[in-house]
Order: sequence, then structure tokens, then C-alpha cells
Amino acid sequence: MINIAILGFGVVGSGVAEVISENSDSLSEKLSGEEICVKYILDKRSFPEHALGNRVTMDFDMILNDPEVIVVVETMGGSHPAYEFSKRALEAGKNVVTSNKEVVANFGTELLSIARENNVNYLFEASVGGGIPIIRPMWQCLAANKIESVTGILNGTTNFILTKMISEGMDFEEALKLAQSLGYAEANPAADIEGIDTCRKICILASLAFGKTVLPENVHCEGISDITLEDMTAAEALGYSIKLLGRAENTDDGIYVITAPFLVGYDNPMAGVNDVYNAITVCGNAVGDIMFYGKGAGKLPTASAVVADIVDIARECKKNIIWSFSKDNPVTDYRSAKTRFFVRTEDPRAKEYFPGCVFCDSENGEYAFITDEDKESRLSERLTGFSVISKIRVL
Ligand code: HSE
Repeated sequence: MINIAILGFGVVGSGVAEVISENSDSLSEKLSGEEICVKYILDKRSFPEHALGNRVTMDFDMILNDPEVIVVVETMGGSHPAYEFSKRALEAGKNVVTSNKEVVANFGTELLSIARENNVNYLFEASVGGGIPIIRPMWQCLAANKIESVTGILNGTTNFILTKMISEGMDFEEALKLAQSLGYAEANPAADIEGIDTCRKICILASLAFGKTVLPENVHCEGISDITLEDMTAAEALGYSIKLLGRAENTDDGIYVITAPFLVGYDNPMAGVNDVYNAITVCGNAVGDIMFYGKGAGKLPTASAVVADIVDIARECKKNIIWSFSKDNPVTDYRSAKTRFFVRTEDPRAKEYFPGCVFCDSENGEYAFITDEDKESRLSERLTGFSVISKIRVL
């Protein structure tokens, strides 16, 4: 019997219990007859109607002191007390599995190190890309490569909102409410809208890809709140979708990491990734580009990744990931990287200042065009003095 405790019985935690119960036969087969048993559920609420309602406790020490508990599943969300509980569980010699990107992005280096010291696992497949296998494939299957870049649509809520706005004419608030009702959004959806969730996820992927701790506080982060339907329509006319991306690249100057909306050309498969789907393109020096695609949020897709980690532990595979803490911030200034901008302006001088660019005129005296490639800081200087309606980076 593999006894587990689930900390936090919200959308993901209850999804984990559901997957374990629904798929108990096939899971048991994969574990040579062993069964996964939810021995405890830690939550402040009670769930009298639930089949596992009698497993609910508010006492974390009871879980910590029970030697039968092999895996602690942390699906609480937020940094505290999730971080402290994870740390104490690892120190007590228990494996920890989590979907909590906030904790992994900010405390992952320390928790991985504590896991190694205690000869247990700290696994977090569900923290990035919901149900998409990405952490383990990057760590194991792409191990032969030097990773050159990682680019992802990493937030289901914002991708869902952008898709509903452009394809169904839904307004922002209505689309957000729908995403919340489907269990996609964070407890505070500002973390989705402002790009914070995407930023945490690209930090996890960058740390994994480049072997150095990349912290959200060192990464430039923009969300989708300034993107309008007019931006999306004008971009569409030029052959682009607008997507909120996390992007990390290993450059000669250091690790370039950014979270921001980008125009993505229709010739790029990412442009067709819609609704709650996420996609991640990893470029390895041997393999080239690989794309991972699937549902990036939601109860069962996320639970699928959590349960896979539990199965891995039950199979006694030690798969801890290592990245080292560097005292110096390895993240370069995003303004020194080269980019192109999609610009909307009413200023006719743009045509003289950006010769050779293709301009798309609209009836109300507005132009949209895409700049040549240049350092972001230099492009911003070149655009100083223009009345720019909007300016979005092009992938
Ligand atoms: N709020 C997150 C999203 C949940 O929408 O992607 C999954 O991490």
C-alpha cells in the first residue's frame, strides 16, 4: 500500500483523489499490484458528503508523524504555509509532489536540495503546463542536448480569454468569469492576467533548462491587460495571433527571460494554440525544436501530472532535479535583446522613419506596421516622439 496525504482539497487536490479512485485498477497494474491510498486530507474545511470525508484533518503533525505516509501531495496553492509544510515533510523523510508553481519558482532550489539531503524526491510535473509532460521530458529525454531556448504559452486562463475575445467576440470580463467557473484561474486571477503565473512557470523551465536558479523577481513581466480587441484584429490582418508567452534563451551575455504578449505568425504552430491549451517549444542543440501541447489548466489534466509523480515515487525511481544557486543574478537586461515591434500609430512620419516596413492602413487614419529587428532599447528610442497607440513584441 502506498499511503499518501493530500494537503489542500481544492480543484487540484480533489482531482488527485478522483483520478486515483477512477483509475485504481490501471494504477495498481502499473504498480505490480500495489494500491495508492489517500490516508489523510489536510484542509480547514470538512467534506461530509465526500467518500473520503472521514480522512480530513486539520493537524499537519499527524501526517508528519505517521511513518506509513510515503508521499505528501501539496496542492494548497500560495507560498505559505505550502513552503513550510513541504520543507518539514522533506526533512521528515517524506517524498513531496506538488502542483504549486509559486513555491517551486521561489523555493525550488532549496527544497530540491533538502530532498537530496534526505534521500527523498521533490517532484513538480504539474507545476508547469497542467497535464502536459514537460519537466520530466526536459530533464530525462532531452538530457543529451544543450537547451538553447524555451518558449511557451503557459497560462490556460489568459489563452482562453484571448481566444474567446477574438473568436467569439466575448468581452474580457465575461471570458474571465467563464475561465474561473471552469476551474482554470488562480484564486486571485490577477496572477493570470498580469503574467505572474506565466512568469513563475518560465522561471521553473529556465532553471531546469540552464541549470541555474532563475527567480521571478529578476524577470521582466507583462500581462494581457493592455491588449485590446483592436490590437488583435490588426495583428490578425497582418497574419499574426497575439499570445502571452514566457520565453527563455541562453545567450552569450547570460540568460534572457521575459514574460510578455507577443505577436506569433500564423506559420508558427503556437499561433493555433487556443482556449485552455498550452504549448511549449524547446530548442535543443542536437534535437532542434520540439513542441509539447495539451491542456494547461483544469482539475483532471493537472491531477494527471500529480498522480504520475506519485506513481514514479511508488516505482522507487529517484528522479530529483538539480540546479545550483548562483549568488549573481544570471538574468540579462531584456532591453538589450533584439526584437521586432508591431506598432499602431496615427503619426504619418512613421513611414519615413521606418522605410522598408510593410504598413497596413486602416480607414480612420491609423497605421500598423512591424519594425525591423533591433535592440529593444534602440527601438524604443527610435519610437520616442511618435504617438504610439500600441506596441507589442513580435516573436
Ligand atoms: N491559473 C493557471 C492557468 C492554472 O490558467 O494556467 C494552471 O497552472
